[in-house]
Amino acid sequence: MGMDEKMDDKGVSRRQMIVGTGALAASAAVAHFGGLIGSAQAVGCTSEKWPWPYVKLDPATTAQIAYEEWYRVFCGAAVINSVFGQLREKVGEPYQSFPADAFVFLEGGQVGWGTICGSPAGANLVANCIIGPRIAGDAAGHHIAEDIMQFYSEAAMPVFTPKNPKITTELIKTTSNSPLCHISVGKWMKAANKPIGSPERKDRCARVAASTAYHLVVLLNAWKDGKYEAKSTHAPVKDFGITAQMNCMECHGADIPTPPMAAKK
Ligand code: HEC
Repeated sequence: MGMDEKMDDKGVSRRQMIVGTGALAASAAVAHFGGLIGSAQAVGCTSEKWPWPYVKLDPATTAQIAYEEWYRVFCGAAVINSVFGQLREKVGEPYQSFPADAFVFLEGGQVGWGTICGSPAGANLVANCIIGPRIAGDAAGHHIAEDIMQFYSEAAMPVFTPKNPKITTELIKTTSNSPLCHISVGKWMKAANKPIGSPERKDRCARVAASTAYHLVVLLNAWKDGKYEAKSTHAPVKDFGITAQMNCMECHGADIPTPPMAAKK
């Protein structure tokens, strides 16, 4: 406790009181949508009861929101906000407490490192918050994440064309065969011959976020209707004994290394 923090007559500091009020509001909200959980968990800003309440959303509206949000918070947070922003209005908690803008760091494949593109990262976060993790019993969120990764890798991106786009000339489409930002944006930049700072590249990435948000909502709506079927065929650990994309040769050429597990067979 800081020296400047004054205690009241019950020995409760002002900060403790503020925290206490927040916790009360959070548990009231949790109780409101039916999932009453232990008070220790209720202090957090989200519930650990799944699924979170979900109402079906319009894919095109969601994609348009993601497109516009990209220019404010970039790919990962744009996808998250496109879904959670609408659910904040339509459902309330736990979406109102969810710190969606915190995920700006997903930009550029996480703070510019070119690892996983923020669009699938954000989509997978959304699916697994709503449905819950596979360890909680329903593996649909896990399977939707697998489907999102495969969709992102195989689609000619960007798929979605927004209303009133900032770039009115047609954007070239490329297939990344990878969920990695570096590879996805690199292949597009090569095909389009546009640098990373160009308005075209930015609009391409905004549309990729929109395309991913669109597909996410299609899958979530199917799940909500009890009609979701997992489609992903990606099983590198089973097939190759290592986590990976399946197109080994694109990086390794003909000389694909064998991981120790497989070598033992
Ligand atoms: C996106 C590019 C990329 C893809 C796709 C990829 N790898 Fe790799 N992999 C690498 C890089 C880079 C390394 C580390 C440098 C190296 O050893 O070539 C590596 C390392 C490995 C290693 C560790 C042993 C070693 O020799 O370095 C194994 C085993 C391996 N890869 C197997 C695979 C298999 C199997 C696949 C396909 C299922 C695959 N990789 C797909 C880029 C990739």
